[in-house]
Amino acid sequence: MATDVSATYPPPSDFAAQAHVKSMEQYREQYQQSIDNPEAYWAEVAADSHFFEKWSRVLEWNPPFAKWYVGAKTNMSYNCLDLQIERGRGDHPAIIWEGEPAEADGTPKDQRTLTYSQLRDEVCKFANALKAQGIKKGDRITLYMPMVPELAIAMLACARIGAPHSVIFGGFSAQAIADRLQDADSHVVITADGGWRRGNVVPLKANVDEACGMVGNVKKVIVLKRCENEIAWHDERDVWWHDVVADASTDCPAEQLDAEHMLFLLYTSGSTGKPKGILHTTAGYMVYTRHTTKNVFDLHDDDVYWCTADIGWITGHSYIVYGPLQNGVTNVMYEGAPNFPDWARFWQICQRYKVTKFYTAPTAIRAFMKQGESFCGQCDLSSLKLLGTVGEPINPAAWTWYHKHIGGERCPIVDTWWQTETGGIMISPLPGAVPTKPGSATLPQFGIDAAVVDAQGNEVDANETGLLIVRKPWPGMLRGVYGDEARYRKQYWSTIENAYFTGDGVRRDEDGYFWIIGRVDDVIKVSGHRLGTAEIESALVSHESVAEAAVIGYPDEITGEAVAAFVTLKGDAQPGNDLEETLRKHVATTLGAIAKPKTVRFTEGLPKTRSGKIMRRLLRELATTGRIEGDITTLEDLTTVAKLRESES
Ligand code: WTA
Repeated sequence: MATDVSATYPPPSDFAAQAHVKSMEQYREQYQQSIDNPEAYWAEVAADSHFFEKWSRVLEWNPPFAKWYVGAKTNMSYNCLDLQIERGRGDHPAIIWEGEPAEADGTPKDQRTLTYSQLRDEVCKFANALKAQGIKKGDRITLYMPMVPELAIAMLACARIGAPHSVIFGGFSAQAIADRLQDADSHVVITADGGWRRGNVVPLKANVDEACGMVGNVKKVIVLKRCENEIAWHDERDVWWHDVVADASTDCPAEQLDAEHMLFLLYTSGSTGKPKGILHTTAGYMVYTRHTTKNVFDLHDDDVYWCTADIGWITGHSYIVYGPLQNGVTNVMYEGAPNFPDWARFWQICQRYKVTKFYTAPTAIRAFMKQGESFCGQCDLSSLKLLGTVGEPINPAAWTWYHKHIGGERCPIVDTWWQTETGGIMISPLPGAVPTKPGSATLPQFGIDAAVVDAQGNEVDANETGLLIVRKPWPGMLRGVYGDEARYRKQYWSTIENAYFTGDGVRRDEDGYFWIIGRVDDVIKVSGHRLGTAEIESALVSHESVAEAAVIGYPDEITGEAVAAFVTLKGDAQPGNDLEETLRKHVATTLGAIAKPKTVRFTEGLPKTRSGKIMRRLLRELATTGRIEGDITTLEDLTTVAKLRESES
């Protein structure tokens, strides 16, 4: 079968025959049940998880606040480890890890395999170490670590004792760490001396030191030795990971936690202000991630599953750590960059461990595509059975390349739409049941009542563009924005009455398939990483030369979107290449390299409405087409557009 953009790809029949959900009829029937009778559905699904005590009610819904499995007692770490061992998976590899350092031919210098039993021992030791450091149930623990097994171990140890974790992506810098530490009122940080990225050491500990200098609340920093780079040491505050676990016991019974006990906070960017701590709790998130991982990746006991995301994002939480481990499969974990030492690395990893299910981001696929087929072509990818994507819309050209060159035209592709807030995958094909169309995330998961509406909340007709909403609560949904109930209500539950508003624009075709268009707010996605324009703007105006800044996303061939900044300068500051570079670097040091604007344009004024709102639409038009031709009737000062046009030429 040749790969064709406009075609529909039915599930391969051999794949469908062995799948958990085998046909469209089965999907439709199960979906209907889940929507007609959600509580019965979610009770039945939860029966496969371990609970110390059963729930008295499946759902308590006081909009916009949901409680799932009310009254139940459970533990996520128990479900990921002990339950798997009880099922006879103790000697099965849970994590196969590969560090970044490698020989020139890609042969890794660091490898480690942990079976489910070994992983539980490590988790218990670290959980006991945390307790010995005085950490108690409810304490928020900040994790800022490289992609090493200890990151998963630390998360599972936190979950075991009921101390919510807040993982910060290793690409963020000191200010971003400080903001998150403060907002979470977190007193303990777990980090490493450094982590490997593209042959360099990321100075994680140094960034933590700097962040601790900005906020006064950190009492303890636990440091893993990874790169052996030199670090500063604060005797009263810092302890080595290997010292605290040295005498720790491998026996640490899992705390019996309330179903709604906070499992973690994960900070993410919104359209306004500072990042918000998205709050997820225990039982609902646990059941939802287990169920969706099993269905979407069609997991079976012998699967070797690899998700290339960083654990610092929600994808890594749900689909590296919690979802796959609850399903007892083997999880591949890789520390570094896709192109180290060259672009064959990912495919060598697939070959080396005989990966069967592979999950990555469209941006990575486009980068591979640009490199040509020689890198994937030199590796044996015949173990692959299924491919997935997440994080941003996948353009059909990248989809078809992935299908052909990685999937050998034999693997179904699951394009999974979801968000930090949704906890798990919401819209995605079930690979044995739903025919796929390149570029569409297809149909909702069980229990997900997704719809496309206009600004008044009325459903729009097929093929019309509208806003993506979810009309019923689901177990994996966020429970709030940490410490900010008003923001939770306003951001998610006020745009459309009686519904969760996703912030995404979407179209549904005549078959009911969802085609995600992208954000309708001021959130941008660069290489699938979520950034708020407001955060980047505030980083820019924190520079002494900048008076005002407006940031937008515009299309980029590889990264999906790229950041463009428009700035006006103070007093005698001189525009020019030097200042442009200084400002780009300033954003990287304040927020992190991922937020660095691709371009900075200096202008004498920013286009604003009469009420003072920056007209980003015009800036976007300028960045995308090089022109401004759109409607400017609401503009306060017409000369700004003329000046912008001039700055362009
Ligand atoms: C976008 C990532 C199109 C979307 C799991 C969403 C997608 C935001 C897809 C959430 C997809 C995610 N197709 N767009 N398959 N998956 N998005 O919180 O705009 O980092 O609102 O979660 O990513 O980003 P977040």
